[in-house]
Parts: sequence; structure tokens; C-alpha cells
Amino acid sequence: MEEKRKSILSGIKPSGDLTLGSYLGAIKNWVKLADDYDCYYMMADLHAITVRQEASDLRRRTLAQLAQYIACGLDPKKNTVFIQSHVHQHAELCWVLDCYTMFGELSRMTQFKDKSSKNSENINAGLFTYPALMAADILLYQADLVPVGDDQKQHVELTRDIAVRFNGIYGNVFTLPEPFIPKVGARIMSLSVPENKMSKSEQDSGGCVCLMDSPDDIMRAFKRAVTDSETAVRYDPVNKKGVSNLMSIYSIAADKTFEQIENEFAGKGYGELKTAVGEAVVELLRPIREEASRLLAEKAYLQSVYREGAQKAAGTAQRTLRKVYKKVGFVER
Ligand code: TYM
Repeated sequence: MEEKRKSILSGIKPSGDLTLGSYLGAIKNWVKLADDYDCYYMMADLHAITVRQEASDLRRRTLAQLAQYIACGLDPKKNTVFIQSHVHQHAELCWVLDCYTMFGELSRMTQFKDKSSKNSENINAGLFTYPALMAADILLYQADLVPVGDDQKQHVELTRDIAVRFNGIYGNVFTLPEPFIPKVGARIMSLSVPENKMSKSEQDSGGCVCLMDSPDDIMRAFKRAVTDSETAVRYDPVNKKGVSNLMSIYSIAADKTFEQIENEFAGKGYGELKTAVGEAVVELLRPIREEASRLLAEKAYLQSVYREGAQKAAGTAQRTLRKVYKKVGFVER
């Protein structure tokens, strides 16, 4: 008998424009997986509202994100691409999983601690139970792999714990997912504060590069990148965070090893490294920016992609939700 193809689910919150961090940490990996897995990728708009959003911006960014996913190489014929809020099963399974997720577990999530300290005026219940929604996203599709950056690893591990708990009570309902994290690029740091992750919530600080940024803006950001007081281009992510971050970005954008990069810049200064990385990133993002701008004008096409995506996703999601409802004892309609 033919083995069932393995499944993948991942997503990004449209709470800001897509960044170089999410491209290198997540999307770039997604594109490679389409031939071997059943892939589901979403615009995680339900997650985005855990932090207050301007409605018109959220709508615009969700569609722009879809255009950028496709421009990054995510073929909607090979991948199921959808908007999270279009598939109501996410919110429904989230409620069930909320009842199988412990207060203590949620309290230990570093992202919750971090976000609640930054948003002290809006520590809402959604921010707290966010990992249960993420577990619902993953478990609805019986995902085997979840391609994410390093910062989401803890949430995927909690998803496994919830699935193990649920399966322990009701039998094998959920596939146990594994995080799939790239060796290089799993944690792209801010260009201005290399101790911090590059983040879409810090877009004004100059430390963040977005996929749609102009070549001039990209070059400016790299030329201003914070490094250190030495001069040697050497990979040392503990003591030389800024330089190591530039090297990681360059390594992916120019497809070179750290050793090749160290040799290339032996005897040269940081200025040359910054220019080279900036130019490589400009070239990496140029076709994405151009294709995304073209697609954004094709409203009817984008609509057909997300409508078809939602329909396909809902079919898979409903199979899991039906099973879960039956197991917990809800009367069938
Ligand atoms: P989000 O929207 O913060 O980030 C989207 C993806 O990009 C990765 N990423 C990075 N990788 C490397 N360096 C960076 N500086 C960087 N910044 C972001 C993230 O690790 C992530 O993979 N909760 C998720 C979205 C989500 C999700 C899911 C993911 C909702 N449901 C189900 C996987 C499965 C989030 O906030 O990611």
C-alpha cells in the first residue's frame, strides 16, 4: 500500500510587513518542501489580533503577505495557502485544546513573558492562550513537520505535549509534530541591536529589513549595521553578534560557507562586508519585490488562491475536528 504523504503546516502573523528574518528563518525553507509533503501555509490573522491592529492595515498586510508568499516561490498549485480566519475549525479546536492546556505551561512560554512585558497595557487572554491556537493550527492538519525559526520552537514543543496528553486520554487522534529549523538563519538578529531578534514589531528602529524595501533602504540599513570594535571578519555568535549575523545573512544570500566568507574578507574591513551583504540581499529580494508588486494588482487571482486554499484546508481540518468532537463526547449534529 502506498504510504500517506507527510504533512506540513506553518504560518506568519500579518501584524507587520514580512521581514528578512521570516524569509530566511521560515519561508525559504517552505519553498523547498513542496515536492515531498502536503503543505499548508497560512496568514495567521487570528494570531495577529493578540496585539491591537488597525483593521485596514491588517487587511492590506494579509493580502500583501499572500502576494509575497507566492513571489517567494510558494506555488499555490503545489501548496495549500489560506487565511487562518477563513477556516473556522482553528478557533473551534483552539477552544477544545484550551481545556487540555495547563495554566502553568502557558505561563512558562518565553514569548508570552516577552510580549506581556512589552505590552503591559494590553495583556489580554488571547496573548496568554496563543500557544493553544498555534497547537490547533498544527494538529488540525496532522502535521509531521513545522518549519519555523528558532523562536517558535517552544510553541511547537508545547503542541507536542498537548497532543501527547490528548492522545493519552482518547487514543491516537493527533500526529506528533516536529519543529523543522534551518541550520543557518534560524535566528536573524536586528541590524541595529544585534542582541535582539530582527522583528517586524521593531520596524522603525532601522534594525529590520522588509521584503518590499527598496534597494536604497536595504543598502542604508546594512551600511549602518552595528558591529564591534575589532576589525576581523570572524564567525563568533557569542562575542561578535553583529558580524556573525551579517555573515549568516551573507552565507544564505550568496550561498557561501563561513570559511569562504572569512577568507573573502581577510585583511578587509567591516565596511566591505556590509556593502557585500547589502548587495547580496538586494539581489536576493529584487525578484521577490517585483513579482509581489505585480501580483498585488491581480486582485481576482489572489482571491481565487485564498478561496481555493480555504476550501481545501477546511476539508482536512474538519476531518480532524469531527474526530476530536466525537472523542470528547459532543453529540453529532
Ligand atoms: P511570526 O509571525 O512571529 O514569524 C513567522 C516565522 O518567521 C520566523 N522568524 C524568524 N526566523 C529567523 N530570524 C528571525 N529574526 C525571525 N523572525 C521571525 C518565525 O520563527 C516564524 O517561523 N506564532 C507564529 C505564527 C504561527 C505559526 C502557527 C507558526 C501561528 N500559527 C503554526 C507555525 C505553526 C509567529 O508568531 O510567527
